[in-house]
This record gives sequence, structure tokens and C-alpha cells, in this order.
Amino acid sequence: MMKPTLAFDVYGTLIDTHGLVSRLRETAGEKAEEFSRIWRQKQLEYSFRRGLMQNYESFAVCTRNALDYACAYCRVPLIGVQKEELLDSYRKLPAFGDVEEGLKTLNASGFRIYAFSNGSAEAVEKLLAASGIRELFLDVVSVEELQSFKPDPAVYYHFLERSGTTGGNAWLISCNPFDVIGAISAGMRAVWVRRSPEAIFDPWGFEPTLTVSSLAELEEHISAWMLNGG
Ligand code: 2OP
Repeated sequence: MMKPTLAFDVYGTLIDTHGLVSRLRETAGEKAEEFSRIWRQKQLEYSFRRGLMQNYESFAVCTRNALDYACAYCRVPLIGVQKEELLDSYRKLPAFGDVEEGLKTLNASGFRIYAFSNGSAEAVEKLLAASGIRELFLDVVSVEELQSFKPDPAVYYHFLERSGTTGGNAWLISCNPFDVIGAISAGMRAVWVRRSPEAIFDPWGFEPTLTVSSLAELEEHISAWMLNGG
């Protein structure tokens, strides 16, 4: 049987969206962690709302608008140039420590690996290149090709079409529970990467096909699952 196709979520799964907290301390002081959390929360909310409203703007626009919101919410009055510097750093956010090794192991074992993101193809290409991991992916599939956002089922179907695979042999790998639920609901398998024991899975009655605590466990867990016939 052909090895499964793996669709890696990017922001929050491969790339640490809270990687700017120490940088934020310079301007937001003790509010840096809250600022980072609100920024991310609003970025996702804006993408969900734009998807529902069918009013597509790129994920970068959602990120920019969410930064303005976080400044207002946390009462951190950044000037234009400070915001541009933060947005520029956001385009080069760091990868999590387990990513490179985990992907190399999966590649060596014959899995077909894609990046699948709300980010534009250009932004994701640059992000992966900045972390030195771009060559570990067959391709980048972006929601911009459909002008919608996860968890619109159409974007998961689009991934299946672009990668030439079917739901039963395609796995989404994500730290984001909304993404895991979206993929399962669209007929894919999905792994929830739970790096922190504090992370909570949305209590919607959906279960991830598998849960791992780091990408280092992925190859072993999916292979064992397949050996056991699913
Ligand atoms: C991504 O699509 C959901 O932020 C996440 O990369």
C-alpha cells in the first residue's frame, strides 16, 4: 500500500506563532504573553469570519488587523514602524525544535509530505525557507488557491485534489484542534500534536485519529496504526 500523504499545518504546528514573545517584551513588557495570545486568537478569528463572509483577504491581512486589535486591547500603543518590524519578524518566525528531525524521519520512511496552510503560498515558502526546512516538503498547498480559509471543508477537498490522494490515505497533522476537527469532518485522518499537556481539545465529540506529544513520535505512531489495520 502507498505510504500516506501528510498535510502539515504550518502556523502553530511547524512554526511557533508565539516565537516573538521575548521581542514583544521590549514594547509590551509584562503583557507580552497576553499580547501574543490575543494576536494569534484574533488572527484566527478574522480568518474564520472572512471565510464565512466570503470576503477573502490574505492571512497576512488577518495578521496585520489582529496586531492592531492586540495593540488596542492590551493598550500597547505601537507606532507604525514598530508594527512593521513585528510583521516582518512574523514572516520569519522560528520552527519548533522537533520539526526538522521529525520530518526527516518521515521522509526517510517514504511518507509524502506537504505543507498545507491558511498562509499564502509565498509567505509559507519564505517561512519554511527561513527555517531551512523547505526541501523536506513535496509542495506547499495554500487556501488562497480557493480564496477561503480552514476549516471550510472545500479547502480540505482542495488539498486532496492537489495532492492526488483520497481522504482515507491523507492525514492532516496539526496542533490546532479546529484544524483537526475540520479535516476529520471532511473525511481525512488527522493527528493532533499536543506539545503541551495543558492544550485542550474542543469537546465537540470528534476524536483525533491519533494524538502525539511531538513530531518525533509521528512516524512510529502512524506506521503502527497502519500495521494494525487502522
Ligand atoms: C495554518 O493554516 C491554521 O494557522 C494555521 O497554517
